[in-house]
Amino acid sequence: MNTIQIKDKQFKTFISEASILKEVTRVAGEINADLAGDNPLFISVLNGSFMFTADLMKRLTIPCEISFVKLASYEGTSSTGKVKELVGLNENITGRTVVIVEDIVDTGLTMQRLIETLRAQHPKEIRIATLLLKPDKLKVDLDIRYVAMRIPNDFIVGYGLDYEGLGRNYRDIYSVVE
Ligand code: IMP
Repeated sequence: MNTIQIKDKQFKTFISEASILKEVTRVAGEINADLAGDNPLFISVLNGSFMFTADLMKRLTIPCEISFVKLASYEGTSSTGKVKELVGLNENITGRTVVIVEDIVDTGLTMQRLIETLRAQHPKEIRIATLLLKPDKLKVDLDIRYVAMRIPNDFIVGYGLDYEGLGRNYRDIYSVVE
């Protein structure tokens, strides 16, 4: 087991890169099968989803487009529930199939807010693809179509996810040592 130190916290290996990529490949296969004729627009939520988005896109074989947005609601290790505005969406999504690509759904408040904002533009359909889901922390009712991995409530870093800006560069996912 590998441990890393980020600021005041220690983290230990939790999910290996190989295990992550196996699940990303599975999700990509599901999307390839489901949305072949739809020319979906993938909306990747930065910063945390950049690695997941890249690995997912490399495994998609259907015609599709991608756009990157920002909408942050998180500080430190606990969700504040604060939400910020959506920035970066230049595409017209009216009548389109949209797939939101997110790193992790925790309380779900970020996702709920994003969906509300996108719905105002009347897309044909909005699907959610998340790398990680913490089912026990979910506070809102969300239909999450694609989930790579379900995890317990522990705070994690790596594979795009950060603790106070650090840790995004690790290939594996690490969980905090309490
Ligand atoms: P939610 O609004 O509570 O669902 O929070 C979602 C956002 O919080 C994610 O997009 C992440 O940026 C961040 N987040 C939630 N849990 C973790 C974690 O364990 N590690 C790092 N970031 C997290």
